[in-house]
Amino acid sequence: MNGAIFFSTKYGSTAQYAQWIGEATGLPIFNIKDANADLLEYDFLILGSPIIYHKVHNWKWVRANLAEIEEKPIIFFTVSGAPAGQKLDAWIADSLPQHLISKMHHVVLRGRQNPKELSWWDRLMLIIGSMKNPDPVASKEELEGFDFMDKSSIGPIVKWVRQLQLSNMFI
Ligand SMILES: Cc1cc2nc3c(=O)[nH]c(=O)nc-3n(C[C@H](O)[C@H](O)[C@H](O)COP(=O)(O)O)c2cc1C
Repeated sequence: MNGAIFFSTKYGSTAQYAQWIGEATGLPIFNIKDANADLLEYDFLILGSPIIYHKVHNWKWVRANLAEIEEKPIIFFTVSGAPAGQKLDAWIADSLPQHLISKMHHVVLRGRQNPKELSWWDRLMLIIGSMKNPDPVASKEELEGFDFMDKSSIGPIVKWVRQLQLSNMFI
C-alpha cells in the first residue's frame, strides 16, 4: 500500500512534524501548495494542518479535494497550541465535513509559537486574543508564545502506517 503525507504550515512547525513522519515511515511529503502533489496516486493519506484562528488551516484545500480524500484511509494530524479536548474538537467540527471527521483518525500534536517570528498582523491579533481569553494558561501562551514540539508524539501515526502496510501484505 502506497501512502503520502500532505501538509500545510504557516510558521513551520507542521512542516517539521511532516518531515519527522516522513523520515520515520519513508513516505513522500508534499506541501499542499506544491503543484506536483497528486492525491490520486496514493492508497492512504496522512494530512497535517495547524490550527490558526480556531480553524483547520488547510480546510479549503480539504473541501476542494474531498472526493479524492474521503474514499481513502486517512490520518489527520492537527498542530495547535491547545491540547486535545472539547475546544479543539469544536474547531475541527467547524472546519471539516462531519462525515470526514467520523471516518478519519485524528491525532493531536502540539506546536510552537514564537512571538518574534510572527507577522505584525498575527502578533497584534494574538495580543488582542490574549486580552480577551478567559483561560489564563491559553492567554499567557497567546501573548508569550510556547514550544511544545515533541518528536515522540508522532508515534501513533507511525504505528498506524505500519499496521496498514502490514495488514495489506496478507490480502
Ligand atoms: C496567527 C495564529 C493563530 C493561532 N490560532 C490558534 C488557535 O486558534 N488555536 C490553537 O490552539 N492554536 C493556535 N495557534 C497556535 C498554532 O496552532 C501553533 O503555533 C502551530 O504550531 C502553528 O503551526 P505552523 O508553525 O505549522 O504554522 C495560532 C498561531 C498563530 C501564529
